[in-house]
Formats: sequence, C-alpha cells, structure tokens
Amino acid sequence: MAIEPNLVEGFHRLSQKERLQRLKQLCDLSNEDLQVLSGETQLPPEVTDHLIENTIGYFPIPMGVITHFSMDGKEILIPMAVEETSIIAAASATAKWIKRDGTIRTYSKGNLIIGQVQIPHLKDVVRSRQILQANQDLLIGLANACIPGLVNRGGGVRDLVVREIARPGEDGAMLVLHILCDPCDAMGANLINQVCEALKPRVEELTGERVGLCILSNLVDTKLVAAEVVIRGVEKNLGLGIEEATLFAQADVYRAATHNKGVLNGIDPILIATGNDWRAVEAGIHAYAARSGKYQPVTHWRMEGSDLVGKIEVPLAVGIAGGVTRIHPTARVALKILKVSRAEDLARICAAVGLVQNLGALKALTTVGIVKGHMQLHAANLAIAAGAAVHEIAAVRDRLAQILLVEKSINLSRAREILDSIRELDQTVKIH
Ligand code: MEV
Repeated sequence: MAIEPNLVEGFHRLSQKERLQRLKQLCDLSNEDLQVLSGETQLPPEVTDHLIENTIGYFPIPMGVITHFSMDGKEILIPMAVEETSIIAAASATAKWIKRDGTIRTYSKGNLIIGQVQIPHLKDVVRSRQILQANQDLLIGLANACIPGLVNRGGGVRDLVVREIARPGEDGAMLVLHILCDPCDAMGANLINQVCEALKPRVEELTGERVGLCILSNLVDTKLVAAEVVIRGVEKNLGLGIEEATLFAQADVYRAATHNKGVLNGIDPILIATGNDWRAVEAGIHAYAARSGKYQPVTHWRMEGSDLVGKIEVPLAVGIAGGVTRIHPTARVALKILKVSRAEDLARICAAVGLVQNLGALKALTTVGIVKGHMQLHAANLAIAAGAAVHEIAAVRDRLAQILLVEKSINLSRAREILDSIRELDQTVKIH
C-alpha cells in the first residue's frame, strides 16, 4: 500500500495548518482529531488529575511525522513527540534513501511478558523448587482466574519457570518464579503485577517460605522484535565507514552507549506519541544490550558486496490497548495516524525506526559529521533562546546558518550578537 506521493512530497515546507489538512486526507482523521493535534483540545483536567498526583499544568512538546517510511511493503506516516531538533528530519531523509534503494523488513519473536515472584531466603531451596514445579498447573490456573478479561480476549498466563539465583556476596540462593503471560494488545504491566501479587499467598502457603518482591521484569527477552535494512549499491567508503562505526561500538562501551542513544532517538518519540511507557522500554533495551555481560550496540551494519545490511533486535513491550494509550486524546490520534491494529505492529515500527534513525546518525557521523545538519536545524532554537521575537527568528536563523557554513560552529552568544545587530539596524532605519 503506497501513500499518495503528492500528499507527502514537500511536507516539511508546508504550514502546520496545511500539514494537518494533508494528514486528514492521508489518515482519515476527523475535525476533532485535528483539534487535538493542533492543541485546541487539551487533555481535560479530570483526566490529568487521575493520571498523576499534584497536577499543576502541562509540558507541551511538538509532535511531527516521519515521511517516506516504507516497511514490509507498506508506506506509513509515523508520529513522533520529541524536542530534539534533527530527529524527524534525519529519520525522513534516511527513510527516503531506503525507499529509493532498499527495503526494511521486520520480524516478531514471541509475545510473552514476564512477572517475577521472588523468595529471597530459603530454608530448603531444592524442596521449594520441586513444590513450585509440581504445582505449575495449579498456579497457572490461579493466575488466569485473576485476569478473566485478558483470558477472554485470548491472552493469559502460559508458563511458569523457576529460577535459582546465587545471593551476591553471600552463601545460598534465592528462588524467582517467572510468570510468562501473553498480554494481547496491552503493554501488560498492571496485569502482570496483579497476577504476581495474587500468587504470593499461595506460593508462601505451598512452600512455607516468605515471598519478597512481586513485580514485572522490564527485560522482556520473551518479546523480541527484529528489523533488517538492506540498501543496494551503497558507495564503498560510506558503507565501510558505517561498518567501522559498528565495530567501534562493539569494542567500546562509551561509544556503544551513544550508538544506542541514537537508536532510542527513533524509538522513544514514538512511545511518547502513543502514550507508551518509554522508561520501561529503555530499561529493557539497555539490559538486553548488556546480556552477554558486556554492554553492546543493539544494531549492526556490514557491507555484503555492494549492499549495506543493518540489523536490530530488541525487547519491546508496548501496547495499543489499556493504560494511557486509549485515554490520552493525542495518543489515540497518533495510533490512528499509524493505522496499527495490533501492539505487535507498533513494536515492529519502533524497531524499524530505531534502526533507520541509527543509520541516519552513522551516515552523518561517517561523512559530514553531526554538527552540520544538527546545528543548521538548531539555529532557529538558538534564535529563540537569544530572545528573538517571532518576526525576528528567520533573520537570526539565516544569518547563523551562513556563519555555520564558514566557521563550522554557532552558539547562543553569536545568536545574541546577531539579534542585537538586527535590532540596531532596525532602529537606524526607523530614525532615518
Ligand atoms: C544524538 O542525539 C545521537 C547521536 O549521538 C547518535 C550517535 O552518535 O550514533 C548522533
């Protein structure tokens, strides 16, 4: 399915109003949806007061869309809520390159989330382990009895695993019961936490031991999503530069952290736009990156002949039902723009965008560097930070862009100097 090309071409040059009209056509949005996006309809205080404690207001961040993104043979517009200037521009430009010269394919591996019931100190580890294993069916039945809605929708607890873990710095072990649950289209945090707590008394009764923590694990390596980008006919030096960047991140944890930050630049803004818990996903991805004992990049790039091939595999527990995703009006519209009907589709999109975002950063880093594109876009931010009024922003931004070309750097004090000189000039013109 392709998006009408003339509706997205030049999208970045349109006014916000014009973009909304295009989006209305492209994604079948209602006038109410447009009012939500434009900020005319705010999240009602009754809702915010229920979401968090001590509400005092809002923290608006802009929402934009990635254009030209085609994956698994389908073209999609991808909403992102983000404050970092170059993210959407870089993602759209990289997506356009891939749409022209390559493909993005995604894969999903598993749909189970993990809850943990911990027994910290045990009188008899072997006996408790055997009891828990022998009572597996009983415990699964009890677990599912406390989430009948999910079970009716086709989800529920599928399996239990008993893990024995050495106590750090002491003799002895703890036991951890892993509860593996299919949350269908929910992220499932509330569901699995309820299940863990509901099982606690029965686990204590069966084993005669005291249960410690009952909580989900964010390391959902039972719910992995993978994506692969292949770009044909990539210029050799560019491809080898990107390959070398992977090697650097594999060798050095300082670089791996920044490499993965670039991946999360693509994932977090989609999670925010769709009302998903980005802290949970971040925690899971970082833990997965460190699963070998050494923190590693979550993407890899290499040249195969003249093709550049990139891969990502990350845990992604996201939802499109329940939680904030359906209460928050903007998240609801974001899901409509994405046209996803399953949580798995949203997870696939996140993985693909993470990989594409990473490629955009590595392409810039191995060629012109990140400063040029980033600072070009950042020039308007500097103008605003320097105190430019709406009618002055463009003039300060354009002057900063010229300086950037020559001097390769710009900063707030340069923006202030430019603003002062523009204002002086204005005064002189008025006097004469
Ligand atoms: C900046 O937000 C992200 C990058 O630092 C990522 C990277 O270095 O790969 C450009």
